[in-house]
Amino acid sequence: MAGKNRLLLGVNVDHIATLRQARGTPYPDLVEAVRIVEQAGADSITLHLREDRRHIQDADVRILRRAITTAMNLEMAAIDEMVGIALEVRPEECCIVPERREELTTEGGLDVLGQEARLRTVCAALSQAGILVSLFVEPDPAHLDAAVRIGAPVVELHTGAYADAAGEDRERLLAQIRRAAGHGRAIGLTVNAGHGLDYANVAAVAGIPELHTLNIGHSIVCRAVFDGLGPSVSGMRRLMDAARRP
Ligand code: PXP
Repeated sequence: MAGKNRLLLGVNVDHIATLRQARGTPYPDLVEAVRIVEQAGADSITLHLREDRRHIQDADVRILRRAITTAMNLEMAAIDEMVGIALEVRPEECCIVPERREELTTEGGLDVLGQEARLRTVCAALSQAGILVSLFVEPDPAHLDAAVRIGAPVVELHTGAYADAAGEDRERLLAQIRRAAGHGRAIGLTVNAGHGLDYANVAAVAGIPELHTLNIGHSIVCRAVFDGLGPSVSGMRRLMDAARRP
């Protein structure tokens, strides 16, 4: 599917590294994974260099910088150590995420209102280096307004609560994402979304026309155990394309 209506797919490869780290083996090889994922239709590759280095390692970031032929989206906390790495590696995009060491995964959006000054500094440093800065936020218009004040051109809406909900709750949370996406576009932001999206829940989010990119990892890597990595990426791609068809 081509054209301006096309929703982009960023594939998060963290959990391929999780498998490798579980046994300390040199495999599965992330470079090979990126080659397959890109061939299967990914538009960008996302990786999260966590402070605790539980999956992606520093060397991965440097090796993948050369291996990725689409675009690298580096997820990181707004701390000096990560800003230093980003300024050295120069990914196309950096997504600033909150981080707590004990969490299972990124558990909420950034506290954009509480740390505007810090985020403005980080955003300026990365932007000056030509890196597109994205803030991972709850689908709340006040947070999107803050992103504009901070100087971030992109936000990624946290879809985790939607993904975990059922019934009316899910509908309500979907409507919240839809409203936030519309608001974000209206105030000039590029609006992405991600977290917890899978083969069963992606279509409703993919159908929101204001969204630019979906970043998806865990469900794709899990399906790859049964179907292989290429088919699991192209299967997700097909669902996203179908949701955008008029
Ligand atoms: N977007 C952000 C900002 C994330 O932190 C994550 C998880 O690392 C994802 C997207 C992908 O989420 P999932 O692995 O649940 O698809």
